[in-house]
Amino acid sequence: MTAKPRSLIVGNWKMNGLRRSLAEIAQIAQGYDAKLRRDCELIVCPPVTLVYLAAKDAVGSRIAIGAQDCHIEASGAFTGEISAEMLADCGATTVIVGHSERRSYNAETDGDVKSKALAALRAGLMPIICVGETNSDREGGHTIAVIKRQLAGSVPGSADSEPIVVAYEPVWAIGTGLTPTHADIVEVHRFIHRELNALLGSHASPLRRVLYGGSVKPSNAKDILALEYVDGALIGGASLKAEDFLAIARAAPAPR
Ligand code: PGA
Repeated sequence: MTAKPRSLIVGNWKMNGLRRSLAEIAQIAQGYDAKLRRDCELIVCPPVTLVYLAAKDAVGSRIAIGAQDCHIEASGAFTGEISAEMLADCGATTVIVGHSERRSYNAETDGDVKSKALAALRAGLMPIICVGETNSDREGGHTIAVIKRQLAGSVPGSADSEPIVVAYEPVWAIGTGLTPTHADIVEVHRFIHRELNALLGSHASPLRRVLYGGSVKPSNAKDILALEYVDGALIGGASLKAEDFLAIARAAPAPR
């Protein structure tokens, strides 16, 4: 059995949430009691329109606020884009990069994702780099090969690329209610940890974590978060309601 650090539980609100939704974040902050603080670290990534307000509200609450994407440049003539420096300036501490929805709807390549992860690190943000196979990759028996290629292309490969988080999100599990078997989750997470050790150096870093994402909900969180090599979860749909997000956080195992 490997050690279990404090779980990292991250909510990805995607393109959901108006100012009134800040009440959910306030409720999460209120429910983040001493026991939860011992067992897990919480980050909420609302749409970028809410990052500043959410971060301002979260001051003193110990929950952190992140964003869902960033541009690779710090500033310049890129109409409509938001840089990592701007997110940091708004109080974000984290940014998700390379989510499968951005890879498919915005044609982001592994190279783009790596540039965004580097931009995040440059701005002092922790990147959460998403990888995951499609249904046909899995059915064709290519899951590990696909993950290996995505990691090699998307993870900045140097020892100073930390803190770094990788989220393993099988594309077919996102928003579908389907999840891989526990054995499959463990196999892929073990593989990702090994690849990160090879890419970043095998010194143990408490800041290097691998999260599972894809249809995590209160009813399956306890079993998934208890799995070996799983350091936390990235949650979409179930992160929109404070009650569900807190229920998932409460399912995190005690660190050991
Ligand atoms: P889901 O989304 O929890 O709604 O499946 C996960 C994600 O896309 O990060």
